[in-house]
Amino acid sequence: MSISVTWHGHATFSLNINGTHIVVDPFFAGNNPAAKTAVDAVDADFILQTHGHGDHIADTVALAKRTGATVIANFEICNWIAAKGHEKVHAMNTGGGYNFPFGRVKMTAALHSSGLPDGSYGGDPGGYLLMADGKTVYIAGDTALFSDMSLIGRAGIDLAILPVGDNFTMGPEDSVLALDYLKPQMVVPCHYNTWPPIAIDVNAWAESVKQETAVTPIILQVDETYTL
Ligand code: NI
Ligand code: MN
Repeated sequence: MSISVTWHGHATFSLNINGTHIVVDPFFAGNNPAAKTAVDAVDADFILQTHGHGDHIADTVALAKRTGATVIANFEICNWIAAKGHEKVHAMNTGGGYNFPFGRVKMTAALHSSGLPDGSYGGDPGGYLLMADGKTVYIAGDTALFSDMSLIGRAGIDLAILPVGDNFTMGPEDSVLALDYLKPQMVVPCHYNTWPPIAIDVNAWAESVKQETAVTPIILQVDETYTL
């Protein structure tokens, strides 16, 4: 019984929960300049979609169609994916939770935007609390710092996946403040160094986390896996 988390670069992750493969925000090699893995090489039973931006959804339809995975997303994104010919979707909305076979998923708020690549309305952006196997993982999605993260933290987070790259999302300083609200055991950074506007010194960020919080930072290399 375990949860493993693999970072594919930018905001794309694969989670393996006792053999169920969950891909977060599919954006793979060919589209994602930070990725090494091609979308054709990835297993997926479920896809967790935080919002509609291209750097999160570019490979969602291709991955869903090849694998037959169920796409979990907000209502508007689910309709958009169904209209592209993949009807295996599970629509949710902010604040709602649902018990899937692998565990419970709750959609959290995010302070961002969510337009789809073709200009379609993508609903509200979100994040996810994933509760499985006695562990809680928080995937913040693209977001600014907001004080209601303290409510999300009441779930008792083992591992938080936070954007830290600045410009489009929280930067290094705000993501350290976010840890005060979320109080996870561990934090994995993402959404940094993919392009020049989000280039940061991630080791300096990790040093700030160690000095200013009780949280353990875990910096993953591309395609590296951490097992909870
Ligand atoms: Ni975004
Ligand atoms: Mn993004």
